[in-house]
Amino acid sequence: MNLLRLIAAMALLFNLCQSAPSTPVPKAVPTDFLANEFKNLKSLIPKERVRNITYEHLETDQNFKAAIKYMQSEEWKDLIEAIRDKPEWIALKKYLREFGIDLELIINYAEAFVANITVTLEPQDPPPKKNLSLFIIDVEQSLPIIAIVSFLHEKLINNPSVQELFEKLSNNESRQMIENVIALPEVKCLIKEFEYMGVNFLDMFSLMYTFFGWGEFKSF
Ligand SMILES: *[C@@H]1O[C@H](CO)[C@@H](O)[C@H](O)[C@H]1NC(C)=O
Ligand SMILES: *[C@@H]1O[C@H](CO)[C@@H](O)[C@H](O)[C@H]1NC(C)=O
Ligand SMILES: *[C@@H]1O[C@H](CO)[C@@H](O)[C@H](O)[C@H]1NC(C)=O
Ligand SMILES: *[C@@H]1O[C@H](CO)[C@@H](O)[C@H](O)[C@H]1NC(C)=O
Repeated sequence: MNLLRLIAAMALLFNLCQSAPSTPVPKAVPTDFLANEFKNLKSLIPKERVRNITYEHLETDQNFKAAIKYMQSEEWKDLIEAIRDKPEWIALKKYLREFGIDLELIINYAEAFVANITVTLEPQDPPPKKNLSLFIIDVEQSLPIIAIVSFLHEKLINNPSVQELFEKLSNNESRQMIENVIALPEVKCLIKEFEYMGVNFLDMFSLMYTFFGWGEFKSF
């Protein structure tokens, strides 16, 4: 189930990347591949369903609301801003852009999404814990995992451009850049906060290490 989670997360990520207004992508991978295959992948994501799930949770899920409210706080915004300024983060961002993966865009999208929501928390004693678990489970269950996995599998076997992308993404340089970012105290803090909200990034890193053949992920 965990591998499926990773793949679903990657599919969502690629999906968001492709919502990008077209920015010039350097020539690390053929851009015609990016345009066409990502478009096909994107069509597998049930966007309306995901939107509906979000609104359902905003109505019924106090823990989801508490988490969103926390992400609207100055404390959270300051943490994100601090990470944005780090050279390690800027270097990783620049590197991934050569693969057509735009982290800045994903974060801007998430920020705009969170900022746009009006949260009214009913007074509750004790106040509800911030927790995204139930929301994430619902979103995962709405994704056509088998179709997404088949799609990626088929591309990895048959499409030389996808193989090239995979090979370049799985090199040591990528791993080193990711490790530099994870080592930042602010990023550790962010990962801990997400963990507290039921989002386990360490699991995802472990899966990513397995996926790219990087050996064991050393947790901190
Ligand atoms: C989303 O919600 C709207 C309004 O309730 C409904 O008409 C529509 O069928 C839903 N779509 C999906 C894919 O669940
Ligand atoms: C923000 O809310 C408005 C009005 O509900 C909506 O049209 C717009 O798409 C939302 N923007 C984002 C980034 O979610
Ligand atoms: C990648 O890093 C590992 C561990 O540091 C090393 O054993 C391996 O030789 C490196 N591979 C390349 C291609 O540099
Ligand atoms: C978040 O909610 C899930 C599902 O209700 C629960 O299993 C988990 O323990 C909660 N996490 C925390 C940190 O409270």
